[in-house]
Amino acid sequence: MLLDIQNMSVAYGKAVALENISMHIAEGEFVAVLGPNGAGKSTLLKAISRSQPSTGTLNFRGESLQTVPSHAVVGKGICHCPEGRRLFPDLTVRKNLMLGAYLRNNAAEIQADLDMVHGLFPILQERGAQTVSTLSGGQQQMVAIGRALMGKPSLLLLDEPSVGIAHRLKMEIFGAIKRIQQGGTAILMAEQDAQSALRIADRVYVLEHGHVGREGTSAELASDDYIRQAYLGVA
Ligand SMILES: Nc1ncnc2c1ncn2[C@@H]1O[C@H](COP(=O)(O)OP(=O)(O)OP(=O)(O)O)[C@@H](O)[C@H]1O
Ligand SMILES: [Mg+2]
Repeated sequence: MLLDIQNMSVAYGKAVALENISMHIAEGEFVAVLGPNGAGKSTLLKAISRSQPSTGTLNFRGESLQTVPSHAVVGKGICHCPEGRRLFPDLTVRKNLMLGAYLRNNAAEIQADLDMVHGLFPILQERGAQTVSTLSGGQQQMVAIGRALMGKPSLLLLDEPSVGIAHRLKMEIFGAIKRIQQGGTAILMAEQDAQSALRIADRVYVLEHGHVGREGTSAELASDDYIRQAYLGVA
């Protein structure tokens, strides 16, 4: 088991955002988290990357993360590509990417991963010397994913990578994410585009009001009447 979450709860003051949720991710697995606005998707990813305190079991490769400070989580192999991207708009594309490798010191391995990111998103090599603020939203999302990859994750957390992005770029980004998984990286992706998520993920959890409402393989959920009506718009 790569990630094992049991009875996890998160509260913001008195407001409970996640209540007793349990889920797991196997090595190399692609898991999607679907759910409406405010369901707790971002909160879940923040709890895993320890930027938001949680209670309950949070084990990564059998070791509890509950005592690991957020700055040390990347070193464990978990990289978080957050909602809203959080890039440095006035720095170049290349500088932003390299910031993802700040804990690493093997120059040859870092260069190999930069080449891998450029292979996934060729536009980032072309625009390497440009400041991020001059890129389109979709291109900025590519930088955010690339930066997370530069941390060499064995688990990549992606928070709504397709939000606000034009269809063609969105398909390109989902294709790249699938290739990242095929390279051996496990992925936990929060996403509101249920159709795309069900197409590329192995398994899905549906979060509703801080609870896991449904879970199963993508094939199971794609043929579930409730999911079809509530998330796929099929009558
Ligand atoms: N910093 C915060 N302080 C207080 N409440 C918060 C905070 N962050 C999130 N919440 C609340 O926690 C709940 C879950 O929020 P969260 O951001 O995890 O949802 P989400 O599923 O990611 O939604 P979206 O799809 O809109 O991104 C919401 O009710 C939200 O208002
Ligand atoms: Mg969110």
